[in-house]
Amino acid sequence: MSTYNNQESKLKDKARYKIHNSFKFDHDSPSIFSMPANNFYFEKQCRDRYPNARIDTVEGDYNVYKQGRKIAKTINANHKYNNVFTHLAKSKEKYDLIWLDLCGNLTPSLITNLIPIVQGRNTKDNALIAITLAGRRENKIPRLKEFYEFESLKEFREIQFIDNLKSFAKMNKVSLKYKKLFQYQSDNGMPMNLYILTLKNLKK
Ligand SMILES: C[S@@+](CC[C@H](N)C(=O)[O-])C[C@H]1O[C@@H](n2cnc3c(N)ncnc32)[C@H](O)[C@@H]1O
Repeated sequence: MSTYNNQESKLKDKARYKIHNSFKFDHDSPSIFSMPANNFYFEKQCRDRYPNARIDTVEGDYNVYKQGRKIAKTINANHKYNNVFTHLAKSKEKYDLIWLDLCGNLTPSLITNLIPIVQGRNTKDNALIAITLAGRRENKIPRLKEFYEFESLKEFREIQFIDNLKSFAKMNKVSLKYKKLFQYQSDNGMPMNLYILTLKNLKK
């Protein structure tokens, strides 16, 4: 993993605001999970908006994690060094908002990792899940085309991928819905897809 350095991008900031604009909790202590790299811009905004929020954060690169520890303390975030999926698989916390700002490729192993999350393992009812992924070269990824028969990459990214997550969610009686898809370019020209989804528990 290399140190993330797109934090000052105007479009990245717009992506953060798209997420902020998608949630408004009716209580003042929401539980939020995110991946701040070493800048914590989004998490500081969450702290300003919800002073009593629980903010849990994870970083998988040790140097980036070390750089972020001080800022985490200043905003009272529980910052951990771990792989995000390992962390969430062990965590007992139920979140109102999870932002997986991965910015990596859409791969079969990513889809496998997302299954328990879209099935509601880590969320409260009516939670919001945001996922940022790079939108590039999915057709070159081994095994992906065997899983999904896509006509075009656009259709795969924007429809089939989410339809698949929806069917995994449904297996656990969870309704997963699109709230927004924000497409932008990072400063190095990489196309990004920010999926903003809602999770509703249908078991009642
Ligand atoms: C795109 S940056 C986060 C940017 C930040 N959310 C912001 O608003 O500027 C993603 C960070 O997550 C880390 N990361 C990527 N994949 C990870 C994984 N599977 N587990 C833990 N950390 C990961 C990267 O090292 C990087 O620091």
